[in-house]
Amino acid sequence: MTDTSQARYSTGSIIFHWVIAIGVIVNWRIAESAEHLEGAAKTAAIAPHKAIGITILVLSVLRLLWRFTHKPPPLSESLASWERFLARAVHVIFYVLLIGLPIGGWMAGSHFELSISYFGLFEIPPLPVTPDPEAGMAVLDQHKAGGIFLLVLVALHIIGALKHSLYDKVPSLSRMWFARG
Ligand code: HEM
Ligand code: HEM
Repeated sequence: MTDTSQARYSTGSIIFHWVIAIGVIVNWRIAESAEHLEGAAKTAAIAPHKAIGITILVLSVLRLLWRFTHKPPPLSESLASWERFLARAVHVIFYVLLIGLPIGGWMAGSHFELSISYFGLFEIPPLPVTPDPEAGMAVLDQHKAGGIFLLVLVALHIIGALKHSLYDKVPSLSRMWFARG
């Protein structure tokens, strides 16, 4: 019973994982609900999406720094090598998107010279890019496509976690949850 895959992620990694996962899902729902609105109603509906997105950006940078100093437990030896490769590839792309997507959203607004209200507490200034609404729309289109790609990967990630836990019966969900007792 010395299978190292029984080991868990560190408590910090588990907290980062679930707080960011909830943030991503809430942000997707907000974006969907704002999609068909216009004008001032849209601006108001998308404001929390922007503030949550910036929170995800900051948390993801901290999470990566945490990961460099807290090595994750190795994946189970009993998984096929393609499964381990796929799991790792999805994790790497997650980190790229968790940082790239909010920066892209921030950059799109910056082309329109918009600052971001952080839940009404303070203003985050636009990034230093040239005002160019056409470029802003193009970056926003990429942001939306990237957001949908992230959701596809989340679905794949959940299927993988459930398959490993329930079908293959190798520790998976338990690795990303707190130890009991
Ligand atoms: C990890 C963080 C983020 C995720 C996962 C995310 C995801 C998404 C998704 C899935 C959509 C809508 C796609 C659609 O319905 O077609 C969207 C739209 C949008 N996002 Fe984000 N986003 C994030 C961060 C940000 C940030 C930081 C900003 C700006 C500062 C931003 C600004 C916008 C805007 C303006 C829209 C367009 C809404 C519309 O025109 O319908 N997003 N985002
Ligand atoms: C919704 C957005 C989500 C994102 C962005 C996300 C992202 C990630 C990332 C980046 C890792 C790798 C951690 C590392 O090694 O640094 C991970 C691991 C993990 N995630 Fe998620 N996750 C999400 C949702 C979920 C959900 C809903 C579940 C449960 C069904 C889940 C279950 C797991 C498990 C079990 C692991 C550990 C994999 C292993 O055994 O090594 N995740 N997740």
